[in-house]
Amino acid sequence: MTEFSLHCGCAAKVGAQYLCEILNQLPGSVNQNLIVGLESFDDAGVYKLDENTALVQTVDFFPPIVDDPYLFGSISACNALSDVFAMGGKPVTCLAIVCFPTKKLSLEILGEILKGGFDKVKEAGAIIVGGHTIEDEQPKYGLAVTGIINPGKVITNAGMKSGDSLVLTKPLGTGIIVTAAKGELAKPEDFAGAINSMTTLNKVASQIMQEAGANAATDITGFGLLGHLFQMAKASRVAVNLWMDHIPILKGALEYANLGLVPEGAYNNRIWVGNNVLFDTEIVTAEKDILFDPQTSGGLLIALPKERADVLLLKLKESGCKSAACIGEVFDGEAGLIKVKRRKNDDRN
Ligand code: CO
Ligand code: CO
Ligand code: CO
Repeated sequence: MTEFSLHCGCAAKVGAQYLCEILNQLPGSVNQNLIVGLESFDDAGVYKLDENTALVQTVDFFPPIVDDPYLFGSISACNALSDVFAMGGKPVTCLAIVCFPTKKLSLEILGEILKGGFDKVKEAGAIIVGGHTIEDEQPKYGLAVTGIINPGKVITNAGMKSGDSLVLTKPLGTGIIVTAAKGELAKPEDFAGAINSMTTLNKVASQIMQEAGANAATDITGFGLLGHLFQMAKASRVAVNLWMDHIPILKGALEYANLGLVPEGAYNNRIWVGNNVLFDTEIVTAEKDILFDPQTSGGLLIALPKERADVLLLKLKESGCKSAACIGEVFDGEAGLIKVKRRKNDDRN
């Protein structure tokens, strides 16, 4: 499938700083049933239908980040479904969004992309009910996902409380590894590790998070760990300590970051959020790159009371989230401030 090598470096989003500006110019939607709307920068919109049921809706699509069309479909679907899981919802129906150059690429390739997405949606317990395809120079694929959620149990990014532990369910570094793979500089086993992570649904992690009683959560995608954490901390009006040595990182990612194989999105994330982050002096550039690296289909970042974090971690690991780790804690401080220290109980600055 070599003709399918039209991939971009990563699933780059429009930089958050531009998005904020544009969205601020729009009149907000005011409706008493709208529980979560545009303004909170949350993972999905939530609209209450009745006392027991709310709709949770989201959309995500992007150009290929890998050469294999089936894997691309699988990764993109996994990534789109994730926003529903991040809020504690259950995905129900999906619409496929497809852009494809029918004159340039064989329809078999399109079939493989769709199959990859179809299988992942099935695994998530949802169904594809339709979609829309347009002719485009560069292929793009993704889903609009509708899920359901109990309106009283929506987990947003705004509920972090001082004293909470922060748990991350997947390792970081997919953007960097995909960039290395694009330059044919990634070891096959490192690339396989990133693929495995990007095609793992956050479904089980979401169920475990709900049982554990999370105060807040988000999934880590284009804005990187620090971008998404900044949004959470700001929305929750708290500050955060992160412990670099506790943060799970995909094998190979630090090595490739050291070679400068860092996607452009990481630099955009740094420009946007960097002023709110205080790095301990011994945190090196490659480590910072990992923290700003835009993730595709990344893990859940969960805030919950400290005393329940160990049980959450244990259950995550038992269920296959082998890299899950407690990576920091929430404290009362300047809203959105993030301090990155070497390790837990390290009070130097
Ligand atoms: Co999200
Ligand atoms: Co999204
Ligand atoms: Co149509």
